[in-house]
Order: sequence, then structure tokens, then C-alpha cells
Amino acid sequence: MRLDKFLAEAGIGTRSSVKILLKKGLVTVAGQVQKDGRFQVDKNSVEVCFDGKPLIYQEFYYYLLNKPQGVVSATKDNIFKTVVQLLDKKDFREDIFPVGRLDKNTEGLLILTNDGALGHDLTQPKKHVEKEYFARIDGKVTNEIIDKFATGLTLKNGEKVKPGELYSEKVYESDTQSGWMSEIRIVIHEGKFHQVKRMFEAVEMYVLYLKRIRMGNLKLDKNLKLGDYRILTIEEIESLKK
Ligand code: URA
Repeated sequence: MRLDKFLAEAGIGTRSSVKILLKKGLVTVAGQVQKDGRFQVDKNSVEVCFDGKPLIYQEFYYYLLNKPQGVVSATKDNIFKTVVQLLDKKDFREDIFPVGRLDKNTEGLLILTNDGALGHDLTQPKKHVEKEYFARIDGKVTNEIIDKFATGLTLKNGEKVKPGELYSEKVYESDTQSGWMSEIRIVIHEGKFHQVKRMFEAVEMYVLYLKRIRMGNLKLDKNLKLGDYRILTIEEIESLKK
């Protein structure tokens, strides 16, 4: 790859600022000063130093974001703030994207990465990656409703969904339309558009609050505040790839 690309990906600066640093003679390749950004390097075998310090080439970046409401799961949007705009300047890269989507008013676990293969794998319908959500529902989630979810529902548009595991955690009187509120957890094995909300609509109930708490083996980190993110650990990345 080109030396200027290598340096930019190693986080030294943008392609144009890297040019200036190269001109200053601050970069060595295998011990020789190299001033030409077009110089070809083998990222796996060559030692590139900046200001005397060896650089480690990193191709892929993985972040776990606790998505707040009001931001959209996209890389660009003309109206709303996007999830990639929540990254600090030092972590932002043009090629980072969200893995799958959460609705604008849904909170919780979202992976941001520039690893296209992993993103594709985790969202492929055939892979059935489990997703777990916590939700507050207007109404009483009864055993009858839990059974309906367990056998597989038909959505209002006639589309069938795979069985989902629904757990009712708390039911209490509330000033909702029905007079009741249920707190639930649900595990689904697909990722259809607005799936959780549409599953509840199929049983005439409404989702008032939705938060994703798990994707595959990856759980939402309780220490992450809404809008915050952290780097995924090697173990977490490996477990997502399994
Ligand atoms: N299901 C939904 O309805 N919305 C989401 O954001 C995720 C799952």
C-alpha cells in the first residue's frame, strides 16, 4: 500500500498533513528516511517509524455504542445527527458504519466498525444472530401473548416472523392509554424493519420505550452512558466472529 495511506490509517494525520510530515523527513521505512507518500510498503512486514517510534498498522476498528434517542443509524443524514457523528474526532473515520439499524427513538447497543465482512455477517438473515431488547409496553403482557410470540406471529402486513422469546418482568398500573404498563425482555432471531414494534402491534399493543441490550454474545455495557462508546475487546470481537 502507499506510505501516505499507511500513515493516515495508523492515525498520524490526514493524507494531506501526512505529506508535510513526510517532507520534514520524520518518517523512516526499514531504517531509511522516506519522503515520498507514493512509496509502496508492505503493511505486514515492513517497519515504518514516525519520529523514531515504530507504528502499528491497524486496519479495522470496532466500537460499542450506547445509542441515545434522536440520532439516526446511518453514516450521513441531511436532517438528523448520525451515530457516527457521536465518535470523537480522533476516532472518526469516513469508512465507519453502524452494524444494522436501531430506530431513531430506540436506545442501546450498536456496533460501529469499518470491518465490512463482520458487518455483513452479523446482519445476514441466514445467520440468525440473536438480538435482545428491553421494552416498556402499553398494556398487560400476559402468558397468552407470550405464547403467541413463541409460536411465531403474523404481522399486520401479512408477513410472518420467526418465534421470539418474550419475558414479562413487571406489570403495573400506569397512566398509559390502557391503564397498564409492562416491562419486558424479548429475544428475536431476525432483523426486520421495526420488528419489535410491529410484533407488538400484531397483538394490538404499543411499544413506548425500546432499548437493545444484547447482540449475539455481546452485551450492552452497563457503564456506558447514553451517547458514550468504547473500543471492543479482542475477546468480544472474536466472539462476534464465531
Ligand atoms: N425493533 C424495532 O421495532 N425497532 C428497533 O430499533 C429495533 C428492533
